Amino acid sequence: MSFRKDFIWGAATASYQIEGAAYEDGKGPSVWDRFSHEPGKILEGHTGDVACDHYHRFREDVALMKEMGVKNYRFSISWPRLIPQGVGEVNEKGVQFYSDLIDELIAAGIRPIVTLFHWDYPAALQARGAWENPESPKWFEAYAALCAERFGDRVKDFITFNEPQCFIGLGYGKGEHAPGYRLPLSSTVVMSHHVLMAHGLAVKALRKYAPGCRVGYAPCGDARIPASEDPADIEAARRAYFQVGDNPEGWAFNVSWWSDPPILGSYPEQGLRLLGQYLPQGWEKDLETIHQPLDFYCQNIYNGDVVRAADNAQGYEMVPQPVGHPKTAIQWPITPDALYWGPKFLYERYKLPFMISENGMSSHDVVSLDGKVHDPQRQDYMHRYLRAYKRAAEDGVDAIGYLAWSLMDNYEWAFGYTDRFGMIYVDYQTQERIVKDSFYWYKTVMEQNGENL
Ligand code: NOJ
Repeated sequence: MSFRKDFIWGAATASYQIEGAAYEDGKGPSVWDRFSHEPGKILEGHTGDVACDHYHRFREDVALMKEMGVKNYRFSISWPRLIPQGVGEVNEKGVQFYSDLIDELIAAGIRPIVTLFHWDYPAALQARGAWENPESPKWFEAYAALCAERFGDRVKDFITFNEPQCFIGLGYGKGEHAPGYRLPLSSTVVMSHHVLMAHGLAVKALRKYAPGCRVGYAPCGDARIPASEDPADIEAARRAYFQVGDNPEGWAFNVSWWSDPPILGSYPEQGLRLLGQYLPQGWEKDLETIHQPLDFYCQNIYNGDVVRAADNAQGYEMVPQPVGHPKTAIQWPITPDALYWGPKFLYERYKLPFMISENGMSSHDVVSLDGKVHDPQRQDYMHRYLRAYKRAAEDGVDAIGYLAWSLMDNYEWAFGYTDRFGMIYVDYQTQERIVKDSFYWYKTVMEQNGENL
């Protein structure tokens, strides 16, 4: 047994993290353009002004993808590059850029998978209250319709949102991401509801203006891994995974608040008890709009927390990682079983074809004396995680794809360029690309549909 024959192998990136050309050709500013320039917000003061200069070098990058054997490429569209004020006038040069990129991909035999929103929110709409404004779902709907109209003839797979947990939780809750606010629950919960409404309206717009396209959604959430295969521990992990508000990092970092309404048509009961009081009036009637049929469900999964059954009110407790447990450069624990239990629990609950829309390893890669970049640790990471994912597929999860994060090194948000996630090394001084060893390894995995894992 292995992955299904039509398994979607590929790699992923996002606009602000690679494009650069932040102020060129009529692009409007995003909240990230503003935030990254605020002193003290980003490690070493890095900004995405130039990033990987992909805006000017996309043909070279597509050629590298082709060499790597990537058949599916997930990238995001910068909303303010397309509509500088967020609503209204369209920037035709921005449309042209994505249109050329899509053509280049298709000519190289690579299927584009387009994420509509990967965090670079139009600054002009931030000034109008962003997601807290009741009009905000409609702004997003119009943007989604434009993407469908202009690109839907060639793009057949769209993803509405990437990790709403992060842009709401980190951007408006903890203040660590753009726009850097620390707002109360009465604001962030309202925002979450508007984001979910925007998702529902966007799904409808995509289906209307790009008939026949497939639509997915890509939230995140650290998986929960049972401490043992004892049914009590498995049940404890399942329960912890879908719990709202037990994460010390903030309420937004949970799965069910963001996925139950669009897929099951209701907010999770336990989440409602905690947060329902903050939802905007009349939220119940919005659920119909939020709950749109989806073709696939994605998650970005990088790690998981170990959970065991416990004799307490919640029925579970977290098991701390032992001292010396392996970690990536960004300090995330290496827990390959996250790609077994995560997809398994998610498929069990949501029952939609499932795709890993991001998974990969940050490492402080260097160019060796031989001029190459050797990254056996990334290869080992991916190997272990993919094995776990394959086991989930063999156990009945309808696993339709895996998109590695990331195609190339890029701007890791508040960590700037210090963390490297790519299978292609980027020299940010010269913009030279150097393929890493993992590039060739992943090529063989894709070629062999994971048989060699
Ligand atoms: C999540 C985000 O979607 C992506 O932008 C980020 O670079 C990776 N994970 C790694 O943190």
